[in-house]
Formats: sequence, C-alpha cells, structure tokens
Amino acid sequence: METSAAKRPTVTQREQWMVERQVFEIYNIFMGLPHNPQAVMLEVRRDEHIEYLYKGLRELGPAFGVLDANRPWICYWILHSIAMLGEPLDAKLEENVIDFLGRCQHPDGGFGGGPGQLPHLATTYAAVNSLITLGGQRSLLSINRGKLYTFLLRMKHASGGFRMHDGGEIDVRACYTAISVASILNILDSELVQNVGSYILSCQTYEGGIAGEPGSEAHGGYTFCGLAAMILINEVTRLDLPSLINWVVFRQGIEGGFQGRTNKLVDGCYSFWQGGVCALIQRLHSIIQQLEPSNSEEEYYSTDSESSADLKGNLFHVNDTCPLRPKVHEGQNNVCCPVNFFDIGLNFIREHAELEPFFNSTALQQYILLCSQVDSGFRDKPGKHKDYYHTCYCLSGLSVCQYSSSKKAGSQPLPRTLLGPFNNLLQPVHPIFNVVLERFNEAHEFFSRT
Ligand code: FPP
Ligand code: ZN
Repeated sequence: METSAAKRPTVTQREQWMVERQVFEIYNIFMGLPHNPQAVMLEVRRDEHIEYLYKGLRELGPAFGVLDANRPWICYWILHSIAMLGEPLDAKLEENVIDFLGRCQHPDGGFGGGPGQLPHLATTYAAVNSLITLGGQRSLLSINRGKLYTFLLRMKHASGGFRMHDGGEIDVRACYTAISVASILNILDSELVQNVGSYILSCQTYEGGIAGEPGSEAHGGYTFCGLAAMILINEVTRLDLPSLINWVVFRQGIEGGFQGRTNKLVDGCYSFWQGGVCALIQRLHSIIQQLEPSNSEEEYYSTDSESSADLKGNLFHVNDTCPLRPKVHEGQNNVCCPVNFFDIGLNFIREHAELEPFFNSTALQQYILLCSQVDSGFRDKPGKHKDYYHTCYCLSGLSVCQYSSSKKAGSQPLPRTLLGPFNNLLQPVHPIFNVVLERFNEAHEFFSRT
C-alpha cells in the first residue's frame, strides 16, 4: 500500500513541473499565433543583443564586483557573442581589451582573473580565446607563449591531470583548458599530454557521461571538456563512446533544451555544453563506424603508420597510448609517426560529417529562441535573469544547431535546419575551442608560422 509520504512529490519533481508549466505556456502562446507574429517571436534580436553586449564591454555596474576574479571570462562571453552575431568590434574598444588582457597576463605566464591576480587555467583559456576572437597581429602577439608553456607545465600533476592554479583543484576542466590553449597556440607536446587521457578516462562514469573528478557525477560541462580534450590529444577512442552517446541523447528534455545531468532542470547554457558534445561526436563518425564489431581490427589499424594518417587525417592516427593499437609483431616495421597535435583541431573541422545530428536541433533552437532569449540577452530558463554567460552559451548552442546538418564545417546550412528567418544565421564556431571558425583559421595560420 502506498504511504502518503510516497505520494508526496519531491522538491525536484515540483521544480520540474513548474519549469514545464512555464515553458509550455510560452509554446502554447506561440502555437496560437498567426505566422507573422510567430516569425517575430523566433527572430534573433540582433540589435538589442549587440547593444547589451557593447554596454557590458564598456562599463559594468557594482553588482559585477562578485565577478572580479573572472574578468577575462566577461571579455570572452561578450566578444565571442559579438563575433557569432557577425558584428565588427569598435577599434578603440578592441585596443582597450588587448591592453586590459595584457595587464591580466602574469609575468611568469598565464592569465589571472584581473590585473595583478594569480594566473588560473580557466581565465587563461578565456583570455586566449578572447584574443583569438579579436584576431590580428597585435592581439595574437600579445600572448607570451613561452611563459604560458611554463605555466602549463607547472600546472601538470603526476596523475596526468592539471591543477586549475598553483595549489588548486585537479579536474577535467583544467585538462580541457590546458590542452585547448596549448593546442591552439601550437605549444602542445607529449610532456603536457602524458597520462592526461588516463585521467579523463578515470572520470567517465557508469552513466556514460564524464564527471569533473574521479567518482563524481557525470555532467554536461565536464563531458564537453573531457571529450574535446580527448579529441585534441588523439585518444578519443579510449572513451566508451557508445555509452557516452547514450548518456547525452537522453539529456535533451521535453522542453527541447538540455539538462546538465540526470534528473536536473533544463538550462540554456547546456545548449552548447551538451549540443557541443553531440556536434563533436557527429564528426567522429568514422571512428564510431570502425568501432562496430563487424569491422576487423586490421581494417582500422594499419601497421604502416602513415596510411591511417593519410586516409583520415591526424585525428584518426593511432598513437602509442591507444589501447586498441595492434601489438607490434617481431620483424615488422611498425614505426609510429609522432602525433602532430597542432593539426588535430584543423583536421577535425576538415572532416566531412556524414551522420545526421542525433539531437533534435529544431526543438533546441525553439527552446533557445522562445524560452532563453529575452528582449536583449539570453537566460538559463523562464523566470531567470539574463547574463553574459548564458548569452554566450545560448548563442554558441544556436550556432551549433544551425550548422548541425552541414556536411562540411561552416558551409551554408540547409534552409530546413534554420529555425526562424534567414537573418537568424550566426557565424559557425569551431566545436572544440568554441571560437568563431574564421578566427580559429586565422590563429592556426598565425601560430603555424611563429
Ligand atoms: C553544476 O551547477 C555545474 C557544474 C558542476 C559545472 C559545470 C561545468 C561547466 C559548465 C564547464 C566549464 C567549462 C570550462 C571550459 C571552464 P548546478 O548544480 O548549478 O547546475 P545543474 O543543476 O544544471 O547541474
Ligand atoms: Zn546555465
């Protein structure tokens, strides 16, 4: 017999019902409208977003004092949002941002949360991505790569993972931010890579997603970080990809948006963290197909190390740490080329995506545009306030959706993939680094020379 306690809904159930009520109220209003007002509701409010973003770059009120150790993040959220909207940046502001981030750069390498603050991996990632988003010689040359490399090595931990800062926590975020900046700046080497794959692997949970640390709960933010880092170090096949896929597809909810973890609420920012995971996996189709039991190991791995690299680019090049790597047979010439870490990010976007997206891109765009978008800026969910973090990651998720059916990275999407008017189309982003594709290409070119 059911007790009254068993019938009483949990706090989580009540919160979930409330969100569903608010979301479906919006969808019901939308469905009841004629075509033209519907089209207006689906529009990306470009001018209003740009005004909100510019305002934040010029001056922030006292309420932002709590973000004093995150100032490069504010730069990144705003600059990346402006770049995705395809808006040029005012030259004077651009100069100011470069100068400001220069003052956040520590004399011993890495970037702190503000001028004079200790360097931290998260703000280093945000500063580097900001400077890459600005682009141009002055911006790119302002990054002291030699010192940054020293900082990254200092953050490297015996477990293979990285610390966020001197004496700080070791987690999957630190692995991603370290590997991401090292890769895009062309300073990634085997010393930084050593055992980081094993650390990330130890964070994949029984659910299939990746947790922040071994033994914690799988979460979209960390799953993105872990997967992206594993791709950049060429060890992605060590993950249990089928179970990761199984986990992520069930994180898209009835509201159309994603939740970050099992039994939690939908949130606009996961449009990128989880949508990004889907976009990354979609580009790993060759690997996934080859993991099918019907394909023999011989087909996947050649003892001639060049052939797998030539056929599929460095991304699919087998390296020493891959557990599936065939045994070296005596007398066989099985020389493995050193992995060219720098080109992995580039080859990744050159690969044609043959799979259809395995998340509902239209439903996600609907959640972002109707539930997260406000008059200016974006929010987590109805009832919450807008902020720059959610504006950045809702737009990033929207861009991922819009290009989710493009076979070639960044090629014009099919009209059926784009929800709302054509003017909604954003700039494509590189799904590993989350910078606008064009800015990634410029940085890759620049750092291949210097
Ligand atoms: C849970 O918050 C949030 C986390 C456990 C951290 C999420 C990690 C990221 C967003 C990735 C960070 C990435 C970089 C590059 C630094 P919550 O409990 O408030 O939210 P939830 O209920 O949605 O899980
Ligand atoms: Zn959020």
